[in-house]
Amino acid sequence: MPAHEPRLWTIDTPNTSYVVAVDEHDRLRGLHWGPRLSPEQALALLDLPESPFRPVIGREPRFDLGAASSFQYGHNGLQVRFSDGTRDLELAFTEAIEGDGDLTFVFTDRHYPLEVRTRYRSHPGSDVIERTLALRNTGTEPIEVVRADSASWVVPGLDTPRLSQLHGEWGAETQLTRTTIPYGETVIGSRRGVTSHQANPWVAIDDGEATETSGPVWSTALAWSGTWRITVEKGPTGSVVVSAGFGHDPIAIRLGGGETLETPIAAGLHTEGGFASAAGAWHEYALAHVLPHPEEVRPVLYNSWEATEFDFTAEDQMRLAERAAAMGCELFVMDDGWFGARVNDRAGLGDWTPNPDRFPDGLGPLIKHVHGCGMRFGIWVEPEMVNPDSDLYRAHPDWVYHQPHRRRSEVRQQLVLNLARPDVADYIHARLDELLSRNEIDFVKWDMNRPFTEAGWPGSDDPDRLWFDHTRNLYAILDRLRADHPNLRIESCSSGGGRVDFGILRRTDQVWTSDNTDAVDRIAIQDGFAQVYPARVMGAWVTDSPNPLTRREVPLDFRFHVAMAGVLAVGGDLRIWSDEDQARGAELVADYKRIRPAVQLGRRRPLRAGAVTGVQYDRGDQTVVLVWRRSRAFAYPDPLLKLQGLDLDARYRDERTGRVHHGAILAAHGLELGLDPADYASAMIELTRLP
Ligand code: GLA
Repeated sequence: MPAHEPRLWTIDTPNTSYVVAVDEHDRLRGLHWGPRLSPEQALALLDLPESPFRPVIGREPRFDLGAASSFQYGHNGLQVRFSDGTRDLELAFTEAIEGDGDLTFVFTDRHYPLEVRTRYRSHPGSDVIERTLALRNTGTEPIEVVRADSASWVVPGLDTPRLSQLHGEWGAETQLTRTTIPYGETVIGSRRGVTSHQANPWVAIDDGEATETSGPVWSTALAWSGTWRITVEKGPTGSVVVSAGFGHDPIAIRLGGGETLETPIAAGLHTEGGFASAAGAWHEYALAHVLPHPEEVRPVLYNSWEATEFDFTAEDQMRLAERAAAMGCELFVMDDGWFGARVNDRAGLGDWTPNPDRFPDGLGPLIKHVHGCGMRFGIWVEPEMVNPDSDLYRAHPDWVYHQPHRRRSEVRQQLVLNLARPDVADYIHARLDELLSRNEIDFVKWDMNRPFTEAGWPGSDDPDRLWFDHTRNLYAILDRLRADHPNLRIESCSSGGGRVDFGILRRTDQVWTSDNTDAVDRIAIQDGFAQVYPARVMGAWVTDSPNPLTRREVPLDFRFHVAMAGVLAVGGDLRIWSDEDQARGAELVADYKRIRPAVQLGRRRPLRAGAVTGVQYDRGDQTVVLVWRRSRAFAYPDPLLKLQGLDLDARYRDERTGRVHHGAILAAHGLELGLDPADYASAMIELTRLP
């Protein structure tokens, strides 16, 4: 990262450069985010009309660090209020500190005791740039921080900039939409205390013409699991700045004297080669720099929720475990209903000891049985919650978020514990540590089933802090449990996919993608999910038909083939599956284990041919294609499916048929799929590149 005169710096990644400059008013300006530039080329940016040293009357400059101050009428990622009421910042550039793959700009307010550090970090082999902001109150009076975005990303000028986003709701997470960006500010975010089903903290910008395989894309993701907002601002001349940060309107953080506020990481990525290329780069980043155990492939798990819900005994769980093991499952997860008085969703949440009627001898016998079946044992918990009908709530009614003279709104008969309180966080950590220390638990499904309401903290002199400290304390508990129980693996769940982000993925191993396990609906959910998160974390269960949620009937192979595009799991009631389905399920689980390294660790490419859609995963010499087609129109035959990213000079053996294909033909003309002409046809195709 060579520094240049005048005050211009470049953050280089293997294929991109991000160039910033400090202008004559000490403001940090984004000059370039795109293909890699040489130092000489980067300097030439100063000759462009956008140059900070060629002010154009009437054109609003674009800032990498938008600090609220005079004449800055656009979105400002940094907004504070000093104790005397002053809101404008006047930041002076102090220094740029360069490290290995690391660049930090330090600014200090010209009068008030505030130091601002904005940091850029890159990793070898990745085009992702991570940014954070740190604010330090160097005085004694508190400073109110109204907004502290981790990063503002200046996107180069585009004719018709388009926004891609992931929206949704419960049972319909990560729906991908692309819309032309309107002038002004477009804000997406969550005020729910959790990442949310409604919006995922990721956006992509393109020129309106990118496809899956062509065109430049600028994307950003926020690594935070609490409330957040991403502001996409299109200025009067069409320029776009994307600003991402934690918190939401109208909450503010009080920064006491001597205190430092560190924001979560906002990661930015510029790619060429279309949306699939951007997604692939995010997946590689997740595997190399986010996930705690990237080298592991995730086991095929069985989860008992849809089979039994709240109605089971230890023996029921044992019978399910035996059937799951016979099918080839490697991890058995007992879901909700094992603890306290939790025989329905009205009681017991918060009391993390085994229900004595269901487990008179504790969890030991079941765990022993599961391990005896050759599987690991996992268990469901929802530690941030409490049912009012629980011993915990009776003992500590003040431990939930609440406000004086206001109702305590329940969702699913539960309230949210004030995890921001250190004593509550310590208590939750201790209960979980006890559970994990007393039992040989290999895996935890950590759920969070309701958003915050009446989010108050009576008695606190800084109650808005709860929005930040809840998430920070959650992270700290997870980090501590992982450190003390190094073999433990964790699944993040929030009524399905309500807490999926790079913050939680730093300390968990997979996520529960959606409570909607309908294979047809899952295709869209998984496509959206895959824009940013890798298949390696995308939990996908095969459940019963008709589907319990949608009542849609879908053949077993189709259900499996869709789930095999992620972390395959089984979640159906195996007690009622026919012998034939159990046997076919076992074959498909065995198929999955062969293709698993390519799916979970390989490069994903979405495919389409007529009514057939699917995905291709490549790793080393292995190419795996999973395809599905809901129905054909007018009995038209399926077109050939063109594969992507193949070695055009190589030959590939189709492991189903033994036939050898030329890479050049598969790419230019495609592969004959031979799908069943009936509705809900699907297939898994394994190709091996021949030496
Ligand atoms: C949530 C989860 C489900 C299941 C139930 C149990 O809805 O998303 O998978 O664990 O809770 O109550």
